[in-house]
Amino acid sequence: MDKFIINGPSTLNGEVEISGAKNAVLPIMTACLAFPGVYRLKNVPMLRDTKTMIKLLEIIGAEVDVFNDELVINSKKCNNPEAPYELVKTMRASFYVLGPLLSRFKYSKVSLPGGCAWGPRPVDYHIKAFEQMGAKVNLKGGYILAEGELSGTIVEFKKSSVGATGNVLMACVNLNEKVIIKNAAMEPEIVDLCHFLIKIGVKIDGVGTSELKVVGLDNKTESVNVEHTIIPDRIEAGTFLIASAITKSNLKIVNVNPNHLIAVTDALLASGCEFEIDERSINIFPGKCIKPVNIITDIYPGYPTDLQAQWVVLMSLADGSSMVQDTIYNDRFSHIPELNRLGAQITLEENIAYIQGVKKLYGAEVMSTDIRASAAMILGGIAAFGETVLSRIYHIDRGYENIEFKLSRIGVDIKRVDY
Ligand code: UD1
Repeated sequence: MDKFIINGPSTLNGEVEISGAKNAVLPIMTACLAFPGVYRLKNVPMLRDTKTMIKLLEIIGAEVDVFNDELVINSKKCNNPEAPYELVKTMRASFYVLGPLLSRFKYSKVSLPGGCAWGPRPVDYHIKAFEQMGAKVNLKGGYILAEGELSGTIVEFKKSSVGATGNVLMACVNLNEKVIIKNAAMEPEIVDLCHFLIKIGVKIDGVGTSELKVVGLDNKTESVNVEHTIIPDRIEAGTFLIASAITKSNLKIVNVNPNHLIAVTDALLASGCEFEIDERSINIFPGKCIKPVNIITDIYPGYPTDLQAQWVVLMSLADGSSMVQDTIYNDRFSHIPELNRLGAQITLEENIAYIQGVKKLYGAEVMSTDIRASAAMILGGIAAFGETVLSRIYHIDRGYENIEFKLSRIGVDIKRVDY
């Protein structure tokens, strides 16, 4: 199993090119199944999750060609609307195939995702919404079986959910009746999915708001040809911005949409960083000290839960004490005991981390527990004095493209070793 060896502390400099967004490309790849067509996706990050999704699309019967950062997905001959446990258990986003397959085949069988490193992650909103749209949904042998003709309705989510909003949107593709989604997720990745579906011919009003009015295709077309460029990964961008703040090094990140990162740049501004921002890039100039800033994660446009772990690392080195609360997931703090191994002083009470800033972190052997916690441990390693050995890095490969290459280029001493 691969590990990272990081020798810190690092001083960063130069430019980082941000890849396409993992959380945008995965649902958009599954959306290609909803309607027969040839889909060219650009700015695709070649991650382990992208490769898992390609395997899943192929099992369903799609042909997928990869050209550098482009995918061409031909979904005309898809004939197997089933997603096996082996793939769904390694990547929860596989559950996204349920909506598009139900829409196209009036039947879909998808393994129920299991638990997750940060506690239970239910799919009850997805299931309830499909039932409201007229599907019969049953659990059999660990699989969700959904079948039936769908019809127009109003779906109102109790809590805003990225996954459930995406799944319902894709279930609407072949439904020429109006579905209103209330309390819809407003995340940029959902907006990107809407723009993609609009290119197929789906009508969506209210894109980017919490109420979406969706009318699917009228079944007059046989197949479509669609080209779409995936939005930049705001979580990867945020991770590099925080890396800059932690190391007090100026950095430029390019191929980014600064409008997607306002909560993050605002938080960094409060902690003492300055910025030069234009349409596609951000130059960050950290201050001489890191000011403590409390964070409460929230749905978009709030501060993202996927950058909570990274913020905790920054606050570990702040001049004073701070609090970080995760309101999206209560149990997403597995990075804390690992950061404390580097010398951080963090205590956890329920879903709030209380952080007393320290002057220095020191290298140690630590472990990754999920994608974003791994990113946090890398940041810890970059800041720490001495050698940090990070194991279980298969998590980071799921969500960050060429991470060690990008970090080495800006001055981090990081090596991947096979133990
Ligand atoms: C997506 C992202 C993930 C991010 C999360 C929150 C992808 C592939 N993953 O996950 O990186 O951390 O959004 O921004 O895009 N909930 C229910 N029942 C449901 C669905 C959700 O109770 O059926 C709850 C969850 O437990 C959580 C909240 O709703 O408390 C938000 O979850 P959701 O937005 O659905 O997260 P994901 O789509 O799984």
